[in-house]
Amino acid sequence: MKEKLMRLQAELEEKLSRAATPDAVEELRVRYLGKKGQLTDILHSMGSLSPEERPVIGELANRVRGAITEAINQKKASFERALRQKKLEAETLDITAPSEQIPEGGRHPIALVQEEIERIFISMGFTVEDGPEIETDHYNFTALNTPADHPARDTQDTFYITDDVLLRTQTSPVQIRVMEKTRPPIRMICPGRVYRSDAVDATHSPMFHQIEGLVVDRGITMGDLKGTLDLFAQKMFGAQTKTRFRPHHFPFTEPSAEVDVSCFVCGGDGCSLCKKEGWIEILGAGMVHPNVLRGCGLDPEVYTGFAFGLGLERIVMARYGVNDMRYLYENDVRFLRQFA
Ligand code: PHE
Repeated sequence: MKEKLMRLQAELEEKLSRAATPDAVEELRVRYLGKKGQLTDILHSMGSLSPEERPVIGELANRVRGAITEAINQKKASFERALRQKKLEAETLDITAPSEQIPEGGRHPIALVQEEIERIFISMGFTVEDGPEIETDHYNFTALNTPADHPARDTQDTFYITDDVLLRTQTSPVQIRVMEKTRPPIRMICPGRVYRSDAVDATHSPMFHQIEGLVVDRGITMGDLKGTLDLFAQKMFGAQTKTRFRPHHFPFTEPSAEVDVSCFVCGGDGCSLCKKEGWIEILGAGMVHPNVLRGCGLDPEVYTGFAFGLGLERIVMARYGVNDMRYLYENDVRFLRQFA
């Protein structure tokens, strides 16, 4: 029986060394260690042994089972290792390979023009400020010399959250916020969204963008306003660009003006962009009203200032020849791709 056991072990080890697949190993396990396997058979026949032989053979049988089990497990593990190795090799990453083409977005034309304007004013020493789109009646109107029942409110109807809280109709409330928290000299612009309850068409949207400008210091004059806007227009639209100031009214500036630039397509001769006018209106401006300065705790006998507010969409549309404002908000990639 001892020889039988030894032969069994040798036979198994030899077969195991030739097993080429995990399935073949499993087959050997069943054949040798299974319930009806060869080792079990031998153990069953132990009853015929003498009481002296039984413990000796029993111990040997256990050792053989241990050795066989170990050999089978090792073989199985070696298959698993090989498999894992193969998988690792198949899945190696070449981190130097060029990546898949990820479609890249582009800047929105409004953002492009906004940044261009910011750069121009930063180069003139302006800061870029920010203000809330949800405003109080006070900042949007009253502090801007536009009390309740002022007729100018009619042209700027908006969306009310409460009687007192609204979506700002202009970036001008940021003038007040900046004058309240900083002392002159002030030189700032503030880009941002504004809202009016206008129906959507080719030239109107209930949401659009403005850039506010404000300069306050001792001795600021209308000449500074003109000089600043001339320089801006030349940097923005070309060195030949001229500005034209037309008298206008805003409650928070006095005197006030609407400002045109000479058409940068025809140079003033008249074309389809400027509608044969030779001029394109781009902003409103004026000298800060004494009431506004006083409301912010600034003595209008000591300090003066100018302010302007330009409509970004209008400039974007003129610059890129966009004839319908709705294109700017519809997120149609066929439109947007042209600016990428
Ligand atoms: N806030 C004005 C508007 O929206 C524009 C403006 C700004 C005019 C600053 C003068 C000074 O129409």
